[in-house]
Amino acid sequence: MKYKLLGRSGLKVSEFCLGTMGFGTEGGWGADAATSFDIIDAFANAGGNFIDTANVYKLGTSEKIIGDYLSNHDRDYFALATKYTLKDNITNPNASGNNRKNMMRSVEESLKRLKTDFIDVLYLHIWDNITPIDEVLRGMDDLIKQGKINYAAISDTPAWVVAKGNTLAELMGWSQFIALQVEYSLLQRTPERELIPMAKHFGMTVTPWAPLAGGALTGKYLRGEKGRIKPESNRLNEHSEKITKVVIAIADELGISPGNVALQWTRQQGFSCIPIIGATKFDQLHDNLKAMDVTLNDDQLKRLDEVSAISLGFPGDFFKEDAVRANSFGGFYDRVEKRS
Ligand SMILES: NC(=O)c1ccc[n+]([C@@H]2O[C@H](COP(=O)([O-])OP(=O)(O)OC[C@H]3O[C@@H](n4cnc5c(N)ncnc54)[C@H](OP(=O)(O)O)[C@@H]3O)[C@@H](O)[C@H]2O)c1
Repeated sequence: MKYKLLGRSGLKVSEFCLGTMGFGTEGGWGADAATSFDIIDAFANAGGNFIDTANVYKLGTSEKIIGDYLSNHDRDYFALATKYTLKDNITNPNASGNNRKNMMRSVEESLKRLKTDFIDVLYLHIWDNITPIDEVLRGMDDLIKQGKINYAAISDTPAWVVAKGNTLAELMGWSQFIALQVEYSLLQRTPERELIPMAKHFGMTVTPWAPLAGGALTGKYLRGEKGRIKPESNRLNEHSEKITKVVIAIADELGISPGNVALQWTRQQGFSCIPIIGATKFDQLHDNLKAMDVTLNDDQLKRLDEVSAISLGFPGDFFKEDAVRANSFGGFYDRVEKRS
């Protein structure tokens, strides 16, 4: 396992993050506590230290399982990330959302479930489109000063909001968001429009969730196997099948699993990226970790890019038009250095 720096921080995290949304059997799917302990053990034994959870996963069971594990292991070894925002009780209107009151309440509850006195990375989970972003960053900065969290991060939020937040934080001397968690995979490339360029600009690491599209990109549904994705999901439609078939063809050429191809694709897109691997079975984790030894060649990357390509829409596609380039660069477009 290699270690990457998380965003513009000095925090060294493993090149894969362990997703624990499936720790607990609530909702009729997921790993029981014993299997979850085995998965964390295997991940740590392979050198993994970066774990992702949230206050709401499996109604708090995910955090509790991790807390039980950490009580008997070296807490300090792990870079533990959790999230606040989503309701974990419905007792009052401020027990959900991005507001400071919920942030403080949620962190205290997470610390109890995780049986620790600090969280390494706290993510805002989903943007509520109500709370001023300076309230969020000021709250996270206060938690950092109190020693309850070490770093601030953000998930599922429009790019302009994150950009405004990081700019304000820089001006105010607050800690900036160092990681951006978004859905990103060969079946979900729309973050390439605004979110990923924004993350690159601010030196944030992108931590894709559902890098296997919930398991669709492993090809198991095409093999007739069952999993947590419902048949009516758009992860199993004609377009996604076409993409998955190219993934399978490349996996066969390389003699590796399709999941390894899909995970590695996220890591070769030219930006700092740590996929969150969401195994619910020991064998799945074992298979996913093999992606650390995979390299896709230019031809394979091209085939994957072509079959999964999306339109950037406006203004991304507009900027690529010849007439716009001619006007903006006065004929010098091909001779001017570009920012990657
Ligand atoms: N910020 C957010 O809004 C957000 C949202 C979702 C997730 N997340 C985070 O991201 C993590 C990953 O998300 P995800 O679980 O959707 O990711 P994923 O990697 O796309 O899907 C994981 C699922 O794929 C299947 N799978 C995994 N490895 C496999 C393998 N080697 N062979 C066959 N099947 C395999 C399993 O499905 P079965 O269980 O059906 O076997 C597993 O539950 C979560 O655990 C959570 O930490 C964050």
